Amino acid sequence: MKRESRNAKGARVVGLGSAAPEGVMTNFDLEKMVETSDEWIRARTGIRERRIADEKTATSDLSYLAARKAMEAAGVSARELDGIIVATATPDMLFPATACLLQDRLGARNVAAFDLEAGCSGFIYGMAIGDGMIAAGLGETILVVGADTLSKVTDWDDRGTCVLLADGAGAIVLKPSNGPSGILSTHLASDGSLGPLLCQPAGGSRRPATTETVQEGLHYLKMKGNEVFKYAVRAMEDSTNRALKMAGLESKDVDLLVPHQANYRIIEATAKRVGVPMERVCTNIDRYGNTSAASIPLALDEALKAGRVGEGDIIAMVAFGAGFTWGAAIVRW
Ligand code: UT7
Repeated sequence: MKRESRNAKGARVVGLGSAAPEGVMTNFDLEKMVETSDEWIRARTGIRERRIADEKTATSDLSYLAARKAMEAAGVSARELDGIIVATATPDMLFPATACLLQDRLGARNVAAFDLEAGCSGFIYGMAIGDGMIAAGLGETILVVGADTLSKVTDWDDRGTCVLLADGAGAIVLKPSNGPSGILSTHLASDGSLGPLLCQPAGGSRRPATTETVQEGLHYLKMKGNEVFKYAVRAMEDSTNRALKMAGLESKDVDLLVPHQANYRIIEATAKRVGVPMERVCTNIDRYGNTSAASIPLALDEALKAGRVGEGDIIAMVAFGAGFTWGAAIVRW
């Protein structure tokens, strides 16, 4: 599946917010759990510490905190929302949708609410769908959340994954664009043939959870990290270039590149191939690890608070994740 779009009417981001659990897990904590070292983790991934949710906190809890902040920043009440999209691979339950749990908790009424599962690319997918809903006249105010609690599906004995994965949420409010600022282009793509390289094998309808699947650890996230790495760099480069081209822009026009935070080396390689110097790249993987669908809005929110984003700036966001899925969005702030 490949979909490229240039928005006809278009949406703009009117509010942004993010949330992360308070609990910090450092590389030194991980050294006590698996055979690894702070030095290896920093050198191979760029991560120093990550936020991990406690037992009581689920994806909808972090989504709620991020959503409230985004709505406050936008000056939008729950009653004004027409749509809620939650991009997540770790919903509270398989159903009902986490978006419906969020709708109830926010007190939104007469609102379309659904989950979107595109792994770590979920936020870009959600933004593209929200943009499309506005362009199609399906609503005027759409809340898009990217949230994951990957720690809940982490095998804490697997050093190949447990050093990477973390929890967080980010949210944006979209409204119709009434000026030059807005989502200029989006590019979405997928390749399901590579799905087994990054998956949670059991717990769905193919292999429902049984005592055996739990004993075999098939409810945990499995990843062939080095193979994912190769595809991620190529796909993120391609997607950014396509989205830039659709927007009639080039890499030199990018004021800030906000890539999915999976691995510092992936970020660096992608930026180099796209042609954006690291001073114009947003990274916070050192403090947050890989928060999946939350990573882009978490990083963008940090950049905004640090004064790195000005009105009219061109922001390129790009992600890659389970599916495989990938995608990019070009936004004029
Ligand atoms: O979110 C979207 C999707 N996810 C990603 O994009 C993640 C992509 N992949 C990665 O970030 C990297 O592949 C990893 C960080 C997961 C692994 O880094 P790598 O450089 O690809 O290492 P590797 O898997 O090729 O393993 C190299 C060595 C192996 O040892 P031998 O066989 O060379 O002796 C591993 O067993 O490093 C070993 N290793 C570790 N050593 C210490 C693997 N994990 C660890 C660890 N600590 N945590």
